[in-house]
Amino acid sequence: MMDSYKIHLSEAEMPQEWYNIIPDLPSPMPPYLHPATGQPITPEDLAPIFPRALIEQEVSPERWIPIPDDIMRIYRLWRPSPLHRARNLEAALKTPARIYYKNESVSPAGSHKPNTAVAQAYYNQAAGIKRLATETGAGQWGCALALACNFFAMECTVYMVKVSYHQKPYRRSLMHIWGADVYPSPTDRTQAGRSILARDPETSGSLGMAISEAVEDAATHEDTNYALGSVLNHVMLHQTIVGLETKKQLALAGESPDVLIGCVGGGSNFAGFCFPFVPDRLKGQNIRFVAVEPTACPTLTKGAYTYDFGDTAGLTPLIMMYTLGHSFVPSGIHAGGLRYHGDAPLLCQLVHEKVIEARAYPQNPVFEAARLFAETEGIIPAPETAHAIKAAVDEARKCKETNQAKCIVFNFSGHGHFDLAAYDAFLEGQLKDIELDPDEMIKKALEELPKVTP
Ligand SMILES: Cc1ncc(COP(=O)(O)O)c(C=O)c1O
Repeated sequence: MMDSYKIHLSEAEMPQEWYNIIPDLPSPMPPYLHPATGQPITPEDLAPIFPRALIEQEVSPERWIPIPDDIMRIYRLWRPSPLHRARNLEAALKTPARIYYKNESVSPAGSHKPNTAVAQAYYNQAAGIKRLATETGAGQWGCALALACNFFAMECTVYMVKVSYHQKPYRRSLMHIWGADVYPSPTDRTQAGRSILARDPETSGSLGMAISEAVEDAATHEDTNYALGSVLNHVMLHQTIVGLETKKQLALAGESPDVLIGCVGGGSNFAGFCFPFVPDRLKGQNIRFVAVEPTACPTLTKGAYTYDFGDTAGLTPLIMMYTLGHSFVPSGIHAGGLRYHGDAPLLCQLVHEKVIEARAYPQNPVFEAARLFAETEGIIPAPETAHAIKAAVDEARKCKETNQAKCIVFNFSGHGHFDLAAYDAFLEGQLKDIELDPDEMIKKALEELPKVTP
């Protein structure tokens, strides 16, 4: 075991329950509020767009939730995913640290996203729903949901942020192969899209806008529900399969982690990876959790902790979270999956309570770290994932300075095989570290926050 590069679990060793952090939170989670009344929402408020089983998971007090057999059967196509020891990266950095990464890029869609897509398609199909509508940024989530709907013989409609639709044509092809319909958002198919286009016909789109369109599509069609790839509690829950496997694998390697690192767009890969370790930290174990985001969309590091809408049009419930303001439109950085104005409320709460720390990086140093990783470990990371790699590299360099042999573990959320245009731009020196300081834009967007007195 000492010299191995990968730590595998057998399919029989795969965890059979998801971990729900809600009963272990240091303080109760602030409720979602109804956008019209400002009062806590009820399950009936969510019923037009989500099946009952997922609404129950959203607020469940149960610590462990069994994974249905039909989901386990699909998970086993690629799970358990390997935990790698990054020995070549360690050698290149000349660090005494031990670096591990959990490889979620082995899923058919190339990222962690199918862990919840498969679960969401399953529960919706079981509730008699025929079609799912969703948004996608970089295209990873759209691909994951297209894949999942394909397995459950459901239709899938994807509103893809316009800038990504044009930057990532092959992600579109994947979604088409798995049978989904894909539209560049904002579209003229929805009221939300039409009013955004009337205000700004040249907009590059945003996740907030695409969410408005998908929610409206679901709410106005009886046979259609909405699926969200991140942010909500049930999505964090489904992703905990990642951290639960990692825990078993680290135990097999005889390791106890000092630092756990993940990138954050809406928070799902980070939460799924880290939440199973949070109770250990709350019981006194010395584990640091580091959430990494881009400086172009610095939600956790520069946002306000307050109630805001999850989308641009103000259709979703109000969520207590770090937010840059629902009208904030981040510049078109290549890590499209990290361009969201808010973050998962569970993650935000733990950042607010200082259990989780957050940091932000500009994209050029992030791509430098991605190149180093590709040169040493071979795999080309998604630009989102490269944010986590940059933080892991920085932590390992710190260990070199202090001569500490720490155990650093990060989540390798996805591969970058469909992000090669971004790598070309980086190699040609054309990637801009957005100098335009988002502070002014954030200040303006925060002035438009909804006024709530919960
Ligand atoms: C590979 C990859 N990693 C990370 C993310 C960020 O999402 P989340 O914070 O929900 O994990 C995305 C989103 O599209 C992604 O594609």
